[in-house]
Amino acid sequence: MRDYGFVDLTLFITGPTYVRQEILKAGELPVFGHRDKEAKLRLEPAIKNLKEIAGIEKDNPNYKVLLIPGTGSDALEASVSSLIKDGDKALVVSVGAFGDLYHKIATSNGKNAELLRFEDGKAIDISKLEDKLKENYSVVMFTHNETSTGVMNDVEKVGKLIREYNALPLVDGVSIFGGAPAKIREGEIAMYSTSTQKCLGLPPGFGIAIVSNEALEWAKDVKNRGYLTDIREHAKSSEKFQTANTTPTQLANQLFVQTEYIVKEGIQNRFARHEAMKNITLEWIKTLPEGFELFAPIENASPSVTCIKVPESLDRDGLKEKMREKGYLFDPGYREVKTPTIRIGHIGDISIDMLRTYLDVIKENISSFCNS
Ligand SMILES: Cc1ncc(COP(=O)(O)O)c(C=O)c1O
Repeated sequence: MRDYGFVDLTLFITGPTYVRQEILKAGELPVFGHRDKEAKLRLEPAIKNLKEIAGIEKDNPNYKVLLIPGTGSDALEASVSSLIKDGDKALVVSVGAFGDLYHKIATSNGKNAELLRFEDGKAIDISKLEDKLKENYSVVMFTHNETSTGVMNDVEKVGKLIREYNALPLVDGVSIFGGAPAKIREGEIAMYSTSTQKCLGLPPGFGIAIVSNEALEWAKDVKNRGYLTDIREHAKSSEKFQTANTTPTQLANQLFVQTEYIVKEGIQNRFARHEAMKNITLEWIKTLPEGFELFAPIENASPSVTCIKVPESLDRDGLKEKMREKGYLFDPGYREVKTPTIRIGHIGDISIDMLRTYLDVIKENISSFCNS
């Protein structure tokens, strides 16, 4: 192919993430007609595999997997459009920029959604949430894994608490699905939204949602669910192993190949690899110069994204450019987080060896970017 001057960096950002050669090749499988029987050949196994990754049996009729052309935000938008009724009061529990995004998606869709915000770097405080839930909300949304700060919330605990107050729990699992148990059943989650370009190790292009039949029934009473944001329409298509609008066919081919691979890798093994990569990164932080420390509380440290508090004097953009020269895309922290941080995305198909090499390269270079 002609050289367009694009640089092939190994992505260690928090998504999109590194994509394996086999998956890049799967992008060359035939384009297909999205209403033809060829669609089912890819999407039936992919949907069943995604259910298993979600911790739900392949043939469990109580949940549907929706494939929504777009990204994670499209799935989040579908959740608010389809599940918050006009006049109902919803609550978004946010621990960072992506919780704030869920709130913005709700309010920009005209929904009556309040925000309960915890400090950056902290997880959901259960007792404060419980106090707030006494104000009677019909729907409560929260983030499984806050990508901006590397904080993971306990889906089971938070989901069950929301249920105690008779509200419907919706979860943003964009940066963790496929890297840790989603706990959809345990947390009695009505709709769990995610995307392809993070722990599933695929290019971007689908919002994915795991939706309970209860949520699909609930949606019947919501007026103006929109066209591409109607979970009932997406569910009808999913039952036929199709998508509601034109399928991104190359990504569908890749989704099929990758979910087969993940099930073969062993879903629990994949989760264990993410946990091991987190632990390697946590140990590595201890070997850095003074002033570098884990941003999240250790018990909430994410298995997919480690966020590290760094000295003010670290030239993060300089380090990013140095890492580019070494062939990597480095993450110099989420800009809206006031504390200076860097993030390591140990996500998707990144192997333990790849991570160790990457961390070594950062360590070799970091001191020269610590201005005093
Ligand atoms: C936790 C979380 N939620 C939502 C989003 C938005 O997802 P997308 O960019 O796929 O629309 C992201 C993206 O990084 C995310 O990390």
